[in-house]
Amino acid sequence: MTTPRTVLVTGGNRGIGRAVAERFVSEGHRVAVTSRSGAGGPEGTLTVAADVTDGASVEQAFAAVEAALGPVEILIANAGITNDQLLLRMSEDDFTSVLDTNLTGTFRVVKRAIKGMMRAKFGRIVLMSSVVGMYGQVGQVNYSSSKAGLVGMARSITRELGSRGITANVIAPGFIATDMTSGLAEDLQAEFVKAIPAARFGSVDDVAAAAAFLASDSAAYISGALVPVDGGLGMGH
Ligand SMILES: NC(=O)c1ccc[n+]([C@@H]2O[C@H](COP(=O)([O-])OP(=O)(O)OC[C@H]3O[C@@H](n4cnc5c(N)ncnc54)[C@H](OP(=O)(O)O)[C@@H]3O)[C@@H](O)[C@H]2O)c1
Repeated sequence: MTTPRTVLVTGGNRGIGRAVAERFVSEGHRVAVTSRSGAGGPEGTLTVAADVTDGASVEQAFAAVEAALGPVEILIANAGITNDQLLLRMSEDDFTSVLDTNLTGTFRVVKRAIKGMMRAKFGRIVLMSSVVGMYGQVGQVNYSSSKAGLVGMARSITRELGSRGITANVIAPGFIATDMTSGLAEDLQAEFVKAIPAARFGSVDDVAAAAAFLASDSAAYISGALVPVDGGLGMGH
């Protein structure tokens, strides 16, 4: 029996975030999601507008969620982007804009979330990284740097706040069928599948199951962990 909690999923209007939000709704939690438009969350959720690159917008989103559902007890920091380019052609803006969403954006939401968690002496923070953070990927110097940074972030949060009932863990999905991967050329997709021991892309529900576990009462003693959901692609990394 899982205790009903207030959950916030950033980028919960589509892809992995949406499946995570649906999973929490199905478990009986109070669930809010963010999207940049402020609309489009799954049934049973409160959708609020937030752009994680903008601290004021993050603040407004948290205030709206707290007013409607109470302090955020479970944060799934999922919003993320790619902007692939070979290093030689990657501009500084290509690099910093991805970092600003994926890494600094996560910092903004985590920093705001821990206020209530510290007060409650309870919190579950799950950061959405990627297999690429540890494995590396051609064309993704910006993205993999941002995703590797989340591991250090979760582990530092664990050291700072572990004694206050707050856990911080990282999920590293492999290739999951969403808008983010549907743009990949078919031959490239086939190439990736060959490298995955499970011989298929994962589903958004595969990732949602891991998020639900890490946020559950059963995972109280798991913190600073990097949990792969990648069909074995990144083993050993
Ligand atoms: N798909 C994969 O294979 C895969 C693998 C490893 C890791 N991941 C990670 O998993 C997470 C979700 O990926 P996905 O495949 O579900 O992506 P997706 O379908 O492209 O959805 C991305 C989500 O992030 C939100 N977002 C993007 N920039 C934002 C910003 N500045 N502020 C607020 N929200 C923003 C989007 O909101 P809008 O709708 O408003 O744009 C959308 O809800 C990402 O962090 C991604 O890096 C994905």
